[in-house]
Amino acid sequence: MWDPQQYLTFGDHRSRPFFDLLARIGATEPRSVVDLGCGPGHLTSALAQRWPGARVQALDSSPDMVAAARERGVEASLGAVQDWEPGGDTDVVVCNAVLHWVPEHPALLRQWMRQLPTGAWLAIQVPANFDAPSHRAIHQVAARGEWLDRLGQAGILEPQAVLDPAGYADVLAASGGAVDAWETTYLQRLSGDNPVLGWVAGTALRPVRDVLDDAEWREFTAQLAPLLRTAYPRRADGTTWLPFRRVFAVAQKQ
Ligand SMILES: C[S@@+](CC[C@H](N)C(=O)[O-])C[C@H]1O[C@@H](n2cnc3c(N)ncnc32)[C@H](O)[C@@H]1O
Repeated sequence: MWDPQQYLTFGDHRSRPFFDLLARIGATEPRSVVDLGCGPGHLTSALAQRWPGARVQALDSSPDMVAAARERGVEASLGAVQDWEPGGDTDVVVCNAVLHWVPEHPALLRQWMRQLPTGAWLAIQVPANFDAPSHRAIHQVAARGEWLDRLGQAGILEPQAVLDPAGYADVLAASGGAVDAWETTYLQRLSGDNPVLGWVAGTALRPVRDVLDDAEWREFTAQLAPLLRTAYPRRADGTTWLPFRRVFAVAQKQ
C-alpha cells in the first residue's frame, strides 16, 4: 500500500520534477485538468493554482492516497489509470511519477492522444533509475534463496519498463503530438542514517513491503541496509548524495 505520510517525508525532492514538468505545459485557459496517480494531492493543488478557471480532478488507485487528497480539498476519485479515459473537455493531463508502475503505458499514451481534443496537453514524468546501485542492491537481496520464490512470484525481480526520451517522443509524435521530451539527473542531498533506505522504502520497495510480514520486512531491510550504505557513502558533514534520473515528455495534440 502507498503510505501518504512516508511519501510526503521527501516532499521537496519529489515536487521539483513535477514543477519542471508543469513549466513546459503551454495551456492558458484549460477547461478540465486531470492529475492521474495524484498521490496525497499536494501537487494537484498546484494545478488548481496555476489554472484557477479550470475544473481540476484527480485519480489514484490507492484508497489512502485518495482519502489524503480529499482531505486537502482535491476532487479525487479511486481508480486505475488503465481504466481512465479523457473527456471531450480534458485540456490538460498530468501523470507524474506513476507510469513506471504500469508496464503497458506506451499503449495507454497512444490511446489518450487519440482521445484527447485537439490542442490538449499530455505531460508525463517517470523515474528512470532502474539500473541505479539502489535498484541493483534490491535485486541482489531479492534474488537470495530465502526471498527468491516469493518476491520472484510477486514480479519484484522483473525489470520495470520505462522508455528514454526519444522512445516517448516516438510514441507521442506517432499519435499526433507536438513533443518536447528530455531527461534530468537530479543530485539529491539526503541526511540521516542510511537515508537511501528510507527513500526506497517509500518507492521501489513498496511491492516488497506488500508481500512480506513485519518480521520478514525487518530482515529484508537489514540485509539491504549495508549494501546501500556502501553504494551511497555518507560524507563527513552527514550528507548522502543520491543521483536520480528522470525522463519527461510533454505533447500537445495537433
Ligand atoms: C510516486 S506516487 C506519485 C504521486 C504524485 N503524482 C506526485 O507526483 O507526487 C505514485 C502514485 O501513483 C499511484 N498509482 C500507482 N499505480 C497506479 C495506477 N495503475 N492507477 C492509478 N494510480 C496509480 C499510487 O497509488 C501513488 O499514489
